Amino acid sequence: MSSNEQTCTQPIGLDVGTSRIVVARREGKKYQFEAQLNAFITLPYSKLTHSLLQREEVFHEVEGEEIVVAGNDAQRFAEVFHVETRRPMRRGVLNPQEPHSLAVVRRLITKLLGNASEGARVLFSVPAAVDHQEDGLSYHEVSIGQILKALGYAADPIEEGLAVVFSELAGSNYSGFGISCGSGLCNVCLAVLSVPVISFSIPKAGDFIDSHASAVTGERATRLRVQKELSFHMNGFGGDRVQNALTVYHDDVIHTLTSAMRSKIATAQQLPKLHRPVPVVLSGGTAMPKGFLDRFIAALHTLDFPVRISEVRLSDDPLNATARGALMAALASDRTYANAAVA
Ligand SMILES: Nc1ncnc2c1ncn2[C@@H]1O[C@H](COP(=O)(O)OP(=O)(O)OP(=O)(O)O)[C@@H](O)[C@H]1O
Ligand SMILES: [Mg+2]
Repeated sequence: MSSNEQTCTQPIGLDVGTSRIVVARREGKKYQFEAQLNAFITLPYSKLTHSLLQREEVFHEVEGEEIVVAGNDAQRFAEVFHVETRRPMRRGVLNPQEPHSLAVVRRLITKLLGNASEGARVLFSVPAAVDHQEDGLSYHEVSIGQILKALGYAADPIEEGLAVVFSELAGSNYSGFGISCGSGLCNVCLAVLSVPVISFSIPKAGDFIDSHASAVTGERATRLRVQKELSFHMNGFGGDRVQNALTVYHDDVIHTLTSAMRSKIATAQQLPKLHRPVPVVLSGGTAMPKGFLDRFIAALHTLDFPVRISEVRLSDDPLNATARGALMAALASDRTYANAAVA
């Protein structure tokens, strides 16, 4: 695999997600996004396969007896070769059970970012801890930081929920709830004037929905996922058992998430006084199905929620919100860009 030859000086936002890695850059007044699937396949090495992959310009690397195809090409070639894609990450962090995890993430980040000159600033998303469990979070954070530093970046982590606050809540002076419902986790951050007050994650999101709906319907999880992304909407129960199973597990995510929000706030030791009602913004792929927002709002209403809410809405760009917010936070903390960033 050849690394990106460009050297970068501008601040960058990087979302290291369980199913996708997204990079955000600013070009003029616009934000530009680029994404790679955080997945790979391995094929047995042969000279012929290797030269065919080279000829087709497939993103791959030879590792001993294996060829590793990573990123968006992994999905394409999984279908061609009838193999399952594997994931370097699980529940928001590098998967310790997967020997290729670090190498694949390094290659994908290198491909997306290239080398930095003059220590360009990168903020990369990390999940908030799941209920005091360490679960490889420090290892993950340090490893991603090292990958970025080796490329020449000045890298710092930003919690995913806080990145969503930066992306979506400029209108309320960066006060309110930023939520990302992703693949491995749902991440939540309540911030006041951009300072995180409560951050946590729950280990139920898209992968939980896929695997549980798969178990009760007998459909393969990857097929379910495709169906979910193409045509699923949460408009109640009907005759279709896949649709029904997906509804049950989306509801499970919504109820676990809203109950956790309620109990975290109720038990918080030092919650600052919120003088005004605050907004809630949902982002991430799992919040995208039609009806998800309405069911989330209904669940909040039934809970006698301890904080006054001004509005609940879905991000305009749910799959890029984390990377965009990381970029906005990087711009805001970079002296050269600070004045232009908070627009
Ligand atoms: N249009 C869609 N409708 C329903 N679900 C979707 C859609 N697009 C993506 N998803 C689901 O959203 C999840 C991926 O979301 P996202 O890209 O926000 O996660 P991630 O950032 O990679 O993961 P995490 O934040 O948990 O580490 C997957 O479970 C995917 O199936
Ligand atoms: Mg995410």
